[in-house]
Amino acid sequence: MTQFDGDTAIVTGASTGIGESTAKRFAEDGASVVVADVNVDGGEGTVADIEDAGGAATFVETDVSDPDDVAAMVETAVDTYGGLDVAFNNAGIEGESRPTADQSIENWDRVVGVDLRGVFLCLRAEIPAMLEDGGGAIVNTSSVAGQVGFPQISPYVASKFGVIGLTKNAALEYSGEDIRVNAVCPGVIDTPMVRRSTSGDGDSVVDRAVAATPMGRLGHPDEVADAVVWLCSEDASYVTGETLTVDGGFTS
Ligand code: NAI
Repeated sequence: MTQFDGDTAIVTGASTGIGESTAKRFAEDGASVVVADVNVDGGEGTVADIEDAGGAATFVETDVSDPDDVAAMVETAVDTYGGLDVAFNNAGIEGESRPTADQSIENWDRVVGVDLRGVFLCLRAEIPAMLEDGGGAIVNTSSVAGQVGFPQISPYVASKFGVIGLTKNAALEYSGEDIRVNAVCPGVIDTPMVRRSTSGDGDSVVDRAVAATPMGRLGHPDEVADAVVWLCSEDASYVTGETLTVDGGFTS
């Protein structure tokens, strides 16, 4: 018997990085997992890895900024596995690096559309399914960039601050109905997103991040997955509206 036996979990952005690790952790702990992402090959890879390890998972091609896709994602969870208990709203993009006045409206709309609107659309679709199922637990991915500013990426920072606000509001609204809503704030984690990034002047984000992190290394996606799984577990039964920072001391 493992802690999520019989439960259904949705993980967005589960084709790579933090989402992939967390989807696998939920499956190891007994959940049936809906793997939702725009990246089809990566998502099918996550499902194959889960099935090879003896777990249950289904891939749904989902753009979290599209309300129809998000509705279909939740429908798949309910139709395939009989309900919804856990959701990790994690899909995100960083967008282009430029000072605020040089940011294009297109980049603003694209980043806010995925990173903030996407989390809102997921909550809006997931909460009714959880209410039907007697409650649940949700974690949204914010960032240390949801706690302090980071030059060059204002659409991302604004979205990640917004995710914390959305998290607190949903927690307040549904705590009486057994739905807990929390956020996780990763520091710099070794994922494809970070490996792709350069700072505005072209320097490696990885080198700068390691230098700025008291623990002197990047985080591993599994270290964020462990925090997310804990927040969704019975061990966190009195924790809601909280933001859990996993950053190797970066914001200390
Ligand atoms: P990643 O790039 O490895 O994973 C992001 C996943 O989201 C990808 O599989 C991508 O295909 C998917 N995705 C992108 N746009 C999507 C959309 N419109 N609909 C559905 N899926 C979409 O990056 P990583 O690092 O695993 O990021 C996961 C989350 O963690 C993001 O929200 C990111 O902002 C956040 N984060 C990451 C940090 C890091 O250092 N890696 C630090 C703080 C936060």
